[in-house]
Amino acid sequence: MRVIPIASESLGTRGLSLFILSEDQNILIDPSVSLAPFRNGYPPHIQEIAASYLSRHYIMKFWELATIIIQTHYHADHYSLSIDRPYEFTNKAIANTLYSHPKKKILAKDPTKNINFNQKKRAFWLWKRNGIPLFVADGNTFVFGRTRIVFSAALPHGKLHSKQGWVVAVLISDSYESVLISSDIVGPGSDIALKFINENPADLIIIDGPSTYHPKQTTKDTERAFERLMAVNDIENVIIDHHLLRDLEWKTILKDHSISREKITLASLLDVPPFCLESKRSLLYNQTPLDSLFHSRFQSYDKEIINKIRRVAKALPHKLKMDNLFKEVFERSKTKFIL
Ligand SMILES: [Fe+2]
Repeated sequence: MRVIPIASESLGTRGLSLFILSEDQNILIDPSVSLAPFRNGYPPHIQEIAASYLSRHYIMKFWELATIIIQTHYHADHYSLSIDRPYEFTNKAIANTLYSHPKKKILAKDPTKNINFNQKKRAFWLWKRNGIPLFVADGNTFVFGRTRIVFSAALPHGKLHSKQGWVVAVLISDSYESVLISSDIVGPGSDIALKFINENPADLIIIDGPSTYHPKQTTKDTERAFERLMAVNDIENVIIDHHLLRDLEWKTILKDHSISREKITLASLLDVPPFCLESKRSLLYNQTPLDSLFHSRFQSYDKEIINKIRRVAKALPHKLKMDNLFKEVFERSKTKFIL
């Protein structure tokens, strides 16, 4: 089994998009990417926009090879919205492509139960589509050939009764290995999320970590979340990314909780050092200030600006690795599936 991260905080954006190669399936999880509209008073920096551009590029490329798409919930950093979102490089055509293939099975969070108003509205767009193999994930198990996919029941997005709604976690296994992806449980922020993790042992466990950067996250909630994190069996198999990595001090915070492993983020699965950009936004603007017209030109798809973004994207640390991985997966998929 191979786990390829496509979008995440350790790769310079917001997201938890992964491509999983099991023994006989290609699984694309949460095909989206996003950027914080404002951080430290600034809109996204060109470095972040380039990282988002690159993640979107690989989402679309790996989508071509996917046999199964998993949608853990309907927040924009996980779910590509069918409206113009320039910083996420998505629009109606992109969303139509991602979620319309007659043969790519979509296993998605239940749009009717355990879902808040906002996510329900977004989910409706997907679930009203005809002619696509779309299945409710919550609490269900699917077996495709030698690949088994076990979903949790709906878990709170953080604490119990969180206004952020619910998500599903997922365990994917084949004859050899297994990986568990927590989605946005924020910590774990609830005992029910920790229970699912410990009841479903996996060789690799990917967890989003507490939202310590968030002004509404209390110290008490953070400490409780870390207690749960430390209560994960096989803590040595844990990768932490997403929410915690929006905090500039994420490394120190982990050390303070006795987690000092070097290879702890999704970037380590690509053998590159993590390059978290959102938390360094003001620093990025100090180092490389942007022209006052940069954002308006970008939003009107100015060619010169888009080309500049492409050039920055080409220099990102994981670009070459991802290109090579894609080639490898493409070759393997040609022999396994009719592409
Ligand atoms: Fe998220």
